[in-house]
Amino acid sequence: ELVQDIAALRERIARWRREDPDGRVGFVPTMGYLHEGHLSLIRRARAECRRVVVSVFVNPLQFGPQEDFARYPRDLERDLRLAAGAGADLLFHPPVEAMYPHGDPGVFVDVGDLARRWEGARRPGHFRGVVTVVTKLFHLVQPDRAYFGQKDAQQAVIVRRMVADLNFPLEVVVCPTVREPDGLAMSSRNVYLDEDQRRAAPILYRALQAARRRLEAGERSGPALVEAMEAVLGGQPLIDPEYAAVVDAATLEPLERVEGEVLLLVAARLGSTRLIDNLWLVVE
Ligand code: PAJ
Repeated sequence: ELVQDIAALRERIARWRREDPDGRVGFVPTMGYLHEGHLSLIRRARAECRRVVVSVFVNPLQFGPQEDFARYPRDLERDLRLAAGAGADLLFHPPVEAMYPHGDPGVFVDVGDLARRWEGARRPGHFRGVVTVVTKLFHLVQPDRAYFGQKDAQQAVIVRRMVADLNFPLEVVVCPTVREPDGLAMSSRNVYLDEDQRRAAPILYRALQAARRRLEAGERSGPALVEAMEAVLGGQPLIDPEYAAVVDAATLEPLERVEGEVLLLVAARLGSTRLIDNLWLVVE
């Protein structure tokens, strides 16, 4: 069922709660143009919850003035069909004016040091926009579980931390990154790539794998692993690398010595398209 109105969404979910007070409500927030990565979250929610809500909302608050808000790909008919096929009960697709009736909100949810580095450094205000809209969506849907992708590693860390720090009564589930056969992480933005750029794009994943191989061979120096990733990214002329990093998976701070739960992060530009990828690893 497609719902575009906030009052109707609340009414529908309240009815589910009355009908089945113990049935879990699962929630998958998205910006639409759904692909297998999104669908894997919906299927996981379907398997774990009585009811599944998917939101499709291209959130203007998380795009910078020079970013791709206006041209972000949209196809609601297709999203409805795919979400239903993956097991969603309800697709919430509010107009921008319903979410932001006064234009920019007067009150935001702010992110501290976790937004200082990596994506946060290159996209000022991005994570403030993400957690503000996720907060609004959590209040509207009031899910028991919310599903996020490992693909956006920093986002997943920040949302988990927000749920803990602000006492949201729900569980965050982070699901593995879904990839194309050649290793490229699926993303709605992959449609921006031309043929040559698409052929070059798996280099991000190859850089991550190169670092993983070095780790498996015993390397424990963070800077050495960063160098290994940079060497791979530097070998592809169509790629303009932005960062490669080895960080603590909870604090997102760079590691000198690699130990415990770590994230390997890469970001690069192909023409005007930014791509990010990561690996989450436990190092003995
Ligand atoms: P969007 O980019 O549409 O992604 C929605 C969810 O799908 C996110 O949790 C993202 O990490 C996950 N996802 C994307 N690609 C994936 C892949 N290849 N494998 C697994 N999961 C993947 O992230 C957002 O939207 C927005 O910031 C949002 C949280 C909806 C707030 O506006």
